[in-house]
Amino acid sequence: MDFKATLNNYQIRVEQGINIWTPTKDTKPAQLHSAMRYSLEAGGKRLRPVLVLAIAELFEASEDSMPAAIALECIHTYSLIHDDLPSIDNSDLRRGKPTCHKAFDEPTALLAGDALLTLAFEILAEAYSDSPLLAKDLILDLSKAAGSQRLIGGQMEDILGEDSDYTEEQLDYIHLNKTAALITVAMTMGARLGKASSQELDAIRKIGRHVGLAFQITDDILDATSDTETMGKPTGADEENEKTTYIKLYGLDEARVQAKEHTQAATKLCGSLSHNTEFLKALVQYLEHRIR
Ligand code: IPE
Ligand code: IPE
Ligand code: MG
Ligand code: MG
Ligand code: MG
Repeated sequence: MDFKATLNNYQIRVEQGINIWTPTKDTKPAQLHSAMRYSLEAGGKRLRPVLVLAIAELFEASEDSMPAAIALECIHTYSLIHDDLPSIDNSDLRRGKPTCHKAFDEPTALLAGDALLTLAFEILAEAYSDSPLLAKDLILDLSKAAGSQRLIGGQMEDILGEDSDYTEEQLDYIHLNKTAALITVAMTMGARLGKASSQELDAIRKIGRHVGLAFQITDDILDATSDTETMGKPTGADEENEKTTYIKLYGLDEARVQAKEHTQAATKLCGSLSHNTEFLKALVQYLEHRIR
């Protein structure tokens, strides 16, 4: 398997899926839909939708996994638009371009985020209406992962953790919820599309937890060590915002050790699935060494 070519192929399919499943920028009100498309099309790594597609393929799903992948990217993109707002992380650059509130304005960015969040569930309900039980499972999984006790709860604690001495337990809560929740649900949605058993879903959740933690620890490491041009978002922002991160709590070397341990644990657990996990394993390992 050519890992880079396979990844690139999934990413291209996601770009096409965005075009198919989300309103064009001239849809009325054009200002709102332009802002939604602007942030969606700014070109992220598409990790979460790629995971949906790859895991659905691994489980030989007969359903089209693209709508689920795009619904998830809508939620992720909304979370970034709101994360960047002046009242949260106050960031001017995202995916190498001015953030939504800079390119448009704050009210438009707020509403574009709201609309992307809502659109995600519309896509799922519509695309899987012929399989009502699957639609229900996907909607329930995604709404829980994006909800007040997961993604938004993590974001809340992340904000409350600014300027304060958070414990290791509080930091784990933040990482598990603001980041690992969406990465895990990408994987379980893919598995549900492929009619995975409850045992397989449990295994997938464990893998997602490790991948999610490794991903956010690496994000924290890159914020401290990389540069704005490479990342396409401002680096050094965590220190500036006095965020509680792995670097602040454990130091850079220990953060690297923990990212590696979670990556190894995830890779090992992939082996417990009786499927071809070659791409999944390669993706997990690639993420530890990513440069953006
Ligand atoms: C950024 O996610 C937010 C975090 C959870 C660290 P990504 O690093 O996946 O951002 P994009 O989608 O590639 O822009
Ligand atoms: C944000 O974490 C995770 C979200 C749920 C958006 P960060 O604040 O560290 O993400 P970046 O570094 O701005 O992408
Ligand atoms: Mg943040
Ligand atoms: Mg941020
Ligand atoms: Mg960050």
